[in-house]
Amino acid sequence: MSILQLDFAEPFFSIDYVEDEASCYVEKKSMVINLAEHEQKNILLDGERFILPLKAAVVQDMTIRNITRAFIVKDFERCNLDDPKTVAEIKQSWKTLYEMSGIARHKGLPYYKSPKFCIGEGSRHMELNFCYVDQGMVPSGPHRDHDRDFDEVHAQIRGYGMMRVYDYNDNEHIHQELNMAPGTVHDKMYDSEGKYPWHEYKSVTPCVYCPIELDRH
Ligand SMILES: [Fe+2]
Repeated sequence: MSILQLDFAEPFFSIDYVEDEASCYVEKKSMVINLAEHEQKNILLDGERFILPLKAAVVQDMTIRNITRAFIVKDFERCNLDDPKTVAEIKQSWKTLYEMSGIARHKGLPYYKSPKFCIGEGSRHMELNFCYVDQGMVPSGPHRDHDRDFDEVHAQIRGYGMMRVYDYNDNEHIHQELNMAPGTVHDKMYDSEGKYPWHEYKSVTPCVYCPIELDRH
C-alpha cells in the first residue's frame, strides 16, 4: 500500500502513483488513470461507475476505491498551455523527441518529452512520461515497431490530439482517427501477440499527452 509523489513532470504536473490502496480522496479536479492492466482491476467511483484498466476519468471531491495501480494527475488544469512563460519553461526543461530518440524522422518535430517514470519488473514493468506538442496538427510519424516489446496506449492530459491507425502494412490509407480530449485513453491498437498496425500520434491543438508502455515479457 503506497502513495508515491512523482517529480518527473514537475513543476508543470504533480502526479501521485497509487498502489494497492482501498480508498483515496481526490479533492481538486484531477485525472485518474487506471494502470491495473495485468491485474484487470477496475477503480470504483461513486455509485455504479468505475474506471476500466487503461482508461481514465476526471474526478473532483470524490473518494475513489479499489485502486491497484493508478496515476492521479492532481489539478491537471493548473498547467496552462496558453501561458507563454509555462510553455517556454517546458521547452527548456524537457528534451525534444529527436534528442530522446535520435531517429532522423523526428528531427525538427515540435514534440518535447519529460523524463520517464519506470516501475515494476519483468512483465509488470511499465514506463510512462509526459509529452508536450508545441503546435496543432503535427503528426509524429507513422511507425509499426518500437524499441522494446511493449503494449502501448496514450492518455490525453491537456489540449486535443488523436491516434491515427493505418491499414496493416500500408501507411498510405488511414483506417481510424481516435480523437482524444483530456481524460481520454484511446482503445488498444495492438493484437494479442503485440503486433501493431502502422500508427502515429497527431496533435490537434498544442497539447500534453502521456504515453503508457507496458512490457510484454
Ligand atoms: Fe507507437
